[in-house]
Amino acid sequence: MANDFIALASSGIQELQPYQPGKPVEELQRELGLTDIIKLASNENPLGPSRTVAQALQKVVPELARYPDGSAYLLKEKLAGFLDVDSSNLTIGNGSNDVLELLARVFLRPGNEAVVSQHSFVVYALVTKATGAELRVVPARNYAQDLEATLNCVTAKTRMVFIANPNNPTGTWIDKNSLVDFLSQIPDDVLVVLDEAYFEYVCEENYPDGVELFRRFDNLIVTRTFSKAYGLASLRIGYAVSHPDIADLMNRVRQPFNVNSMSLAAAVVALDDQAHVEQAVQANKQGMAQLTSACNDLGLGFIESVGNFLTIDFARDAMPVYNALLAEGVIVRPIGVYEMPNHLRVTIGTQTENERFIESLKRILPVLS
Ligand SMILES: Cc1ncc(COP(=O)(O)O)c(C=O)c1O
Repeated sequence: MANDFIALASSGIQELQPYQPGKPVEELQRELGLTDIIKLASNENPLGPSRTVAQALQKVVPELARYPDGSAYLLKEKLAGFLDVDSSNLTIGNGSNDVLELLARVFLRPGNEAVVSQHSFVVYALVTKATGAELRVVPARNYAQDLEATLNCVTAKTRMVFIANPNNPTGTWIDKNSLVDFLSQIPDDVLVVLDEAYFEYVCEENYPDGVELFRRFDNLIVTRTFSKAYGLASLRIGYAVSHPDIADLMNRVRQPFNVNSMSLAAAVVALDDQAHVEQAVQANKQGMAQLTSACNDLGLGFIESVGNFLTIDFARDAMPVYNALLAEGVIVRPIGVYEMPNHLRVTIGTQTENERFIESLKRILPVLS
């Protein structure tokens, strides 16, 4: 009889559904034979990375046979200066996903719990369940994390709370006073993972800077990434800012060469080009206005977003809209897995891409309803 390998896996992993990424352009090309495709499905930067990156990557090519610097010395030095922290506060990961997973591996185990919000980034649930720890999901309030309810959910078993600020896929955010209040009340031995993957895009006055707060709260860990505003998603590089003991613990379980030389070199020069980041932020602002105004014209509801994406409410099953967009060569993101089957998440693209998405919607919606 064939082996039941699934039964041999740990129970947390048996229950997992693999992460579903945005549909790759090449896949849609293969499936529908389309050539002119735009992808607004993975919150990537439509401007791409800084121009300095290509040159930095070229310089690494002759060294590809060598292992990368596993300590990420240069990038840590650079980031430490940029963030005004010590190198010992930093952990570099293969995307910020990697550091989220490292944190879960270090601190979560069967018998303890992690708390997340309903509609929050699905990786928190994945990394938690993979450890065998219990996942507690707090109902959201108007699609946003309810910090009071989150606090009420904390028990003696709680080891970690995940907060995305802003959250993906909702684009909702938490203001500084609310976050400080929360951090002041949560027990010291509960780790708060503040995921700031979209930090650079947020232009709100009361938006908190997690790195500033981590100096006041030892149990606060901030994660950021080069995948979004820095336009380096394919290179996979992100980081955590934490108490040095937490960084030390993550370093114990981290793969020795978890980040490759190309990514390290790219991140160093990308960090230097803040003008490019600013350009991406401004373009995003304009693109957001373009999309929200189109939604208003079309009578579509949406969740106010401070990220580089907009989540639109079609007030009906969104899958036919998603499929009709695919047929038009426009890839967006269905978010049924986030308990939001009537919504689609759309990444802010270039002005031309946004226009194409809007024009496609205008063609599709009257036919579908
Ligand atoms: C909220 C949030 N956190 C973390 C990530 C992980 O990004 P990366 O692993 O590319 O740094 C994403 C990516 O979509 C995200 O939306």
